[in-house]
Amino acid sequence: MRNRVAIASVQEVTRVLSCIQPTGTVHLGNYLGALVHWVSGQHEAEVFHGIVDLHALTVTDQPKVLGVQTLELGAMLFAVGLDPERATVFVQSHIHEHSELAWVMECTVSFGELSRMTQFKDKAAKRETDFVSAGLFTYPALQAADILLYDAQEVPVGDDQRQHIEMTRDIAVRFNHRFGETFILPRAVHPKMGARVMDLQDPSSKMSKSAHSDAGIVYMLDDNEAIMRKFKRAVTDSDNEVRYEPETKPGIANLLEILSAATTTPIESLLNQYEQYGRLKSDTGEAVVALLEPIRSRHEELMSDPAELTRLLAIGDGRARTIAAATLHRVHAAIGLLPRS
Ligand code: AMP
Ligand code: TRP
Repeated sequence: MRNRVAIASVQEVTRVLSCIQPTGTVHLGNYLGALVHWVSGQHEAEVFHGIVDLHALTVTDQPKVLGVQTLELGAMLFAVGLDPERATVFVQSHIHEHSELAWVMECTVSFGELSRMTQFKDKAAKRETDFVSAGLFTYPALQAADILLYDAQEVPVGDDQRQHIEMTRDIAVRFNHRFGETFILPRAVHPKMGARVMDLQDPSSKMSKSAHSDAGIVYMLDDNEAIMRKFKRAVTDSDNEVRYEPETKPGIANLLEILSAATTTPIESLLNQYEQYGRLKSDTGEAVVALLEPIRSRHEELMSDPAELTRLLAIGDGRARTIAAATLHRVHAAIGLLPRS
């Protein structure tokens, strides 16, 4: 007879898990496009936010840098408004169950399935002469562990991650079939999309950490002067009429979208307030300064108070740990590993 292992009682509130790698510097695009929704989401669902440092380890050999980046990102998540009492913010490497369950996942997925992951093929090809770690290959097994450990029902991800979520479901189905109902099947959902922020110097491309130059990227920790300078130098067009036409006037459309998101004013109401590009640029700059200044000062405050930051992270770690430990226990019991006496 199959093992019948109790799954944590079906949650009334949807449980949502998002993870973010501590690589790169957080910019206005990440904030308006994703983080603001994380903050509002904590009032709508039971949310888990993992800072997945072990995933970043697949492509880095500078572990000391990783620790600092993890701390910086943690401070940023709290600075933008995640409340540790509502949102479970945790550091992946602090919860050893991730690595332990990842091994079980590796034994539940086939070499062939992992070989078909397009992200692995892309990343391995990009690294060319660099070291391609086995971790880069088994990365989706660790990702499956991240998701299944928390009985996550919804995983908001972009298209590039859908294949990994599908694989997670396949692993869960296979495991449940072999060892009895153990895992909740997660589903990929479209993240709530905020503004799509474009590069201020190249408004036809998304603001992105992989851009060639920093001039068109507004980082969350840029000082007020730098923010104003970047907006004043934003690339627009030469017809000098403020209209919202993303196709033909991407620079102006981008400024309007940013101003609209930063001041929560509909674009239509902004249109009749502006005749000149100059004032649109400086007002948008000022709105972004007003938006980011308190976040930056909260971030500074947290970074200069490591004890407080550690305390905040420990709240999430504790909650995550309890759930993760229960799931791993369930998994070991389902498989029938010999319990420790
Ligand atoms: P990435 O930095 O590309 O890993 O993205 C982290 C999150 O920020 C994802 O949810 C992206 O969709 C979002 N994001 C990144 N760049 C932008 C952008 N320029 N505009 C809006 N959202 C973005
Ligand atoms: N692979 C994801 C990315 O590159 C990050 C990630 C790791 C993740 N574990 C996850 C995303 C679990 C969602 C759920 O963006």
